[in-house]
Amino acid sequence: MMDGEGSDPFRNDVISGLSRKPKSLPSRWLYDEKGSALFDEITELPEYYPTRTELKILRNKAGEMAEAIGPHAVIIEYGAGSLLKVRILLDALDRPRAFVPVDISASHLHAAAEGLNEDYPELIVDPIASDFMANNLGEALPETPGRNVGFFPGSTVGNLSDAEIKRFLSNVRSDLGDTSCFIIGVDQPKSPDILIPAYDDAQGVTAAFNLNLLTRINRELKGDFDPGAFEHEARWNAEDSRIEMHLRSLKRQRVRVAGEVFDFEQGETIHTENSRKIALDRFEAMAAGCGWTLKRTWKDEDGLFAVLLLEAS
Ligand code: AVJ
Repeated sequence: MMDGEGSDPFRNDVISGLSRKPKSLPSRWLYDEKGSALFDEITELPEYYPTRTELKILRNKAGEMAEAIGPHAVIIEYGAGSLLKVRILLDALDRPRAFVPVDISASHLHAAAEGLNEDYPELIVDPIASDFMANNLGEALPETPGRNVGFFPGSTVGNLSDAEIKRFLSNVRSDLGDTSCFIIGVDQPKSPDILIPAYDDAQGVTAAFNLNLLTRINRELKGDFDPGAFEHEARWNAEDSRIEMHLRSLKRQRVRVAGEVFDFEQGETIHTENSRKIALDRFEAMAAGCGWTLKRTWKDEDGLFAVLLLEAS
């Protein structure tokens, strides 16, 4: 807890999420140090197609993206992780001026930003340690002249609800201004025969990623979860076009967290993530309502993943 009851957002989310029926927890809490390392492992799995497919699209189409963006760009990356993907874009761009990675994890952010600046000494690198959903990012942007270009790869947008996507796209639009554009990765609807293994891999890395949330709760919120008494489940929800991750209780049990008691039926689940697969017509309509026009679509040859260029309308 930070300073008194109610001020720790993790504690608040866990207590309210476990009190809800059905139980659920926001997916952003999956990414503590261990969770981030496990996610990096996921991106290398044979079953997990999104990362390698998006990287391939970026490598093949960075030239076209750079041409559409123009010279002297100021790149703002939302939820910037390892900064591997933006390098592909930077390498193709004509004299990019500045790069602003926005990430909640300050220590990782600053280390990654320094590493990048060593490789791009001409580039102004100006990290912002913040949740990418924050409302007032515009004020923190550097006053470098140049076209503002948002960058949001990874299909992280698929973790958000419709209302969150609209809030995010509207915020970015007003932060980046009337001459801006936005490059965004959007994973595509496809057969559950591909999706389920991608989110329930043979090596059990995704299971460890999901179950790590219980270990984090135990450590940070004085919980007594037995992670061995839960199992990972990846579920395709066709109606909402999303993969859901759940943690399923293997037995009837009682768990204590931060001084509160939570009961589980056998088979009851905690819903821990939505990974939406948003069709392009639907995404285009949402973006249009937030001041963005879809200008270009780049996909792999199997149509698994799309990278979009939106322009301020
Ligand atoms: C980082 C949110 C894009 O939804 O595919 C991977 C997270 N969850 N395996 C995704 C994730 C389970 C990932 N994103």
